[in-house]
Amino acid sequence: MRETTFGRELRSTALKIAQRLFLDRSASFVLDELGTTRSLRELRARVVKVIDETPDIKTFVLEANRHWRGHRAGQYVTVDVELDGVRHRRCYSLTSASSDQSSRRLSIAVKRVPGGRVSTFLHERVRPGAVLNIGHASGDFVLDAVPSAASQSLLLLSGGSGVTPVLSILRDLDARDAVGDVVFVHHARRAIDVAFWAELLSISRRRPGLRLELCLDEGDDGSKGFTEEGLMALVPDYASRHTLLCGPSGLMARVERMWAQRGLTERLKLERFGSPTPLGSPTHDGPVKVRLTGPERTRLTSGRGSLLAQLEAVGERPAFGCRVGICHTCTCTKRSGTVMNLLTGLTSSRAGEAIQLCVSAAMSDLHLELQETT
Ligand SMILES: Cc1cc2nc3c(=O)[nH]c(=O)nc-3n(C[C@H](O)[C@H](O)[C@H](O)COP(=O)(O)OP(=O)(O)OC[C@H]3O[C@@H](n4cnc5c(N)ncnc54)[C@H](O)[C@@H]3O)c2cc1C
Ligand code: FES
Repeated sequence: MRETTFGRELRSTALKIAQRLFLDRSASFVLDELGTTRSLRELRARVVKVIDETPDIKTFVLEANRHWRGHRAGQYVTVDVELDGVRHRRCYSLTSASSDQSSRRLSIAVKRVPGGRVSTFLHERVRPGAVLNIGHASGDFVLDAVPSAASQSLLLLSGGSGVTPVLSILRDLDARDAVGDVVFVHHARRAIDVAFWAELLSISRRRPGLRLELCLDEGDDGSKGFTEEGLMALVPDYASRHTLLCGPSGLMARVERMWAQRGLTERLKLERFGSPTPLGSPTHDGPVKVRLTGPERTRLTSGRGSLLAQLEAVGERPAFGCRVGICHTCTCTKRSGTVMNLLTGLTSSRAGEAIQLCVSAAMSDLHLELQETT
């Protein structure tokens, strides 16, 4: 429905009153109710369009407010939503080409995860006109981290919804007229699950240097169709290419192993949507007592897996975002005890240090200050 002049004046007056009466955060709450992206400090984005890409992937085209600082293709933003009074934060890769402060039109594409809280909310409840609280772009899955990438041969390798950051990079190369020698191999379970293919075909018709390969797996985790032999047949010169990879954990693990066995790890750049394969294998045996502060309580956990998963298994609801150690939403202070960082394999016993619950495992009984819960 078009807003009338009276409606606009009313909204503007309400905005001024809200900003005078409340600090920005409180005002933000009031403004949420008014569905506006205006905020003194907070970055917000209005949903301007929702596009069905596949039965379970939707693109949300967003218009950010004046606080947007721009992004580089391949980066992600966090999206905060409040469900039943509880704030949840999730990461979503931007699918749009790079932006600067002045170009505030962005897009994300969200796959609906069965039982997933935020993806289901976005699919079912978010319509054009809705306002989302987003975070500034972050992440190093970007092309300029690869030396003179535009002039070199690239292999873009994606699976399922992992197409999103890779698509952003390709759209960016296309927008900059910089598509060189690029092979794009995408894995999906079924033809119906393939998002953005018509657009990719259209880019490949304009850009002779771009070759597309679609692999349909019909497997459970999007990786059944991936074999080393299959990839070598499709892309015989894969070893000489800089490779950007994003997909389901099974596919990523196979590709990582293949590149590592051939000493090519330096030429592989990846973005994870899910839990990483732990480098460290905690040796602590048996249950771990975790004393939690705020409010004070003690939980007996299994001692296996990440602290985030262990605490969830005993009924705690620590705040989390990415679950892979990049967004810091799960950070808390460890007052005492020893933890292992699952990404680096390093252990640490320093009192008062900040730890990330999603990538830390208990090596002893612990005392944690756990303030924020979902
Ligand atoms: C850098 C990065 C970029 C990303 N980019 C994208 C992207 O472009 N597109 C995209 O679709 N996704 C992306 N993701 C994934 C995204 O952030 C979310 O993880 C995803 O949308 C699922 O969130 P959710 O809230 O819907 O699911 P959650 O509520 O977190 O649930 C996830 C799974 O856990 C199960 N679960 C939830 N609660 C419980 C419980 N209490 N006990 C047992 N099981 C439970 C659910 O059934 C579901 O299967 C990205 C992630 C990262 C880290
Ligand atoms: S949840 Fe993102 S760093 Fe732990």
